Amino acid sequence: MLEVIKIEKNFKKLKVLKNISFNVEPGEIVGILGENGAGKTTILKIITGLIIQDEGYINIMNQPLNKKSKKNLGLLLEGDRNLFLNYTVKENIIYFGSLNGIIGKKLKENTEELLKKLNLKNIENKIVSDLSRGMKQKLSLATTLIGDPNIILMDEPFLGLDLESKDIMIKTIKNLLKEKKSIIITSHDMDIMEKLCQRVIILHKGEILIDETVNTLKQDLLNSKSYTIEYKFNNYNLIKNEIQKNKNIIIENFDKNNFSFSGYKDKNLFYDVINILKDLNVEIISSKQKLPDLKEIYLNITKGYEL
Ligand SMILES: Nc1ncnc2c1ncn2[C@@H]1O[C@H](COP(=O)(O)OP(=O)(O)OP(=O)(O)O)[C@@H](O)[C@H]1O
Ligand SMILES: [Mg+2]
Repeated sequence: MLEVIKIEKNFKKLKVLKNISFNVEPGEIVGILGENGAGKTTILKIITGLIIQDEGYINIMNQPLNKKSKKNLGLLLEGDRNLFLNYTVKENIIYFGSLNGIIGKKLKENTEELLKKLNLKNIENKIVSDLSRGMKQKLSLATTLIGDPNIILMDEPFLGLDLESKDIMIKTIKNLLKEKKSIIITSHDMDIMEKLCQRVIILHKGEILIDETVNTLKQDLLNSKSYTIEYKFNNYNLIKNEIQKNKNIIIENFDKNNFSFSGYKDKNLFYDVINILKDLNVEIISSKQKLPDLKEIYLNITKGYEL
């Protein structure tokens, strides 16, 4: 569906993207995560031809990026740069529809459908310059979707949206997936990305560190989950000393009634600790485990690359 092949980009002497390759299939949603300046927006702009790469190729539905294949793409950029501020909400949608070759009855129907879906019906006759930021964001999405693109690229679509608008945005994205669209989305909101994306690409200083399904990432880090054990014992220093002898165990917190620990890729970690407690005759009151979330995974992966 969408292929990004060995893209390189420099802005003057600054290397902004290095050897970027990935694919997105129909019905798939990929999240691009990365710090400010990592190169996320630049990738989306290169895919849509707004910025020309120095090296590499973009293929859209097995065609190189050109005027015709570009019709399959819809790009939602931050802010209102692609809207006509002196026109109404409805006029903007109609204009972008006609730009995409949709006319007549179909244009009318699609416009009405989007106005309703995105909760814009009650402001359809408002001039865009009078709209709030979130309303403009939803209108931008409508103008992106009116051409019914197969591949949809969204740069920070949730930025500045209130809860209700965020919900509408999420529902709209989920429906697009049901229609087998390919979606790329960038965001700093890890909770939403974790819920929405099947796959994430972690970009760091213009390089792809990770391109994995969210499930695989979680599975990989499963053994680094952290545990909390509540216990009764009169000599907690003794427990601490014994546990510290195992270098794979990272003690996160230790006090007289409970302690938390984690470790990386050690399946037996939990049992090792339990065995130590058993040998010392420590009474265990309760134990809890916590799976890593996307935020912890992201921090864990990028941490090693900071230097
Ligand atoms: N037109 C440009 N001219 C020169 N440098 C640019 C240009 N556009 C982007 N850059 C630089 O390229 C790098 C990547 O920018 P980009 O906007 O892609 O980052 P980003 O990952 O989208 O960041 P953010 O999370 O802040 O949106 C940054 O160092 C930025 O300063
Ligand atoms: Mg950006």
